[in-house]
This record gives sequence, structure tokens and C-alpha cells, in this order.
Amino acid sequence: MQKLIKQAISARSHAYCPYSGFQVGAALECEDGTVFTGCNVENAAYGPSNCAERTAVFKAVSEGHRSFKRIAIVGGHEGENVAPTPCGVCRQVLSEFCDPSFEVIMATGEEEYEVVTLGELLPRSFSL
Ligand code: THU
Repeated sequence: MQKLIKQAISARSHAYCPYSGFQVGAALECEDGTVFTGCNVENAAYGPSNCAERTAVFKAVSEGHRSFKRIAIVGGHEGENVAPTPCGVCRQVLSEFCDPSFEVIMATGEEEYEVVTLGELLPRSFSL
């Protein structure tokens, strides 16, 4: 758990967020133990911005990984640590690949975190 949070903290340092100033880092652990990290990447047109969680998921899927165990998320403005709760779009993207038992670790530090399941965050998610 601590190692995954540490990787999310490291990914946060790459956040590109000149518009919100809110930095987010995520570390997505695959069932085989591989970890993909991500940060938020904003855009002057706002709409094309991408959250840290989706960056990590898209990196993983584009590298051939689709089985995920858990994700750690950290964030905050410069000098602050808050535990970001994934936005609705990211919850839906996670639900495309993950079971309701998938763990979402929302952390403010390596020893300070809350674990919730995707099923708790997005009950009755849409699927085809
Ligand atoms: N953001 C994330 O990357 N993940 C979250 O869980 C919440 C929000 C980003 C989107 C935007 O770049 C900034 O944080 C402020 O909303």
C-alpha cells in the first residue's frame, strides 16, 4: 500500500495544471503487479483536460494491460495534501475494466489513506 501511494506521490510531481493549480497523481496496480502511473494534464480549452486516473488507465490499456487490482490517488494545491475522490468520468472509465470490488485508495500520505471500492463510488454503473 505504502509503495503504491509513494508512486502516486511521485507521479503528482509531473502534473500539468496551470489552470486549476490542483496537482493529482495516480498509481494503478495491475493484477500481475505492474504499476502504471498518471498525472492530470490540463489544456487551455479546459475540455480536453485529462485526470490523473484516466491517464494511468489509458497508459495501461494502451500497453496491453486490462486487469486491475487497485489505484492510489493523491493530490492538492502546491504545498497541500488532500485525498482526491475520482470524478464521475473517471469512475465510469474504471468501471469499464474493474469489478465493483476494485479498491480506490485516496491518500494524503503514505500512512494516511482511505480505501473505498469502485462499487461504493459508482453503484449501478452503465455497461452494455
Ligand atoms: N483531477 C484529477 O486528475 N483527478 C481527480 O480525482 C479529481 C480532479 C484533476 C482535474 C483537473 O486537472 C484538476 O484536478 C482540478 O479539477
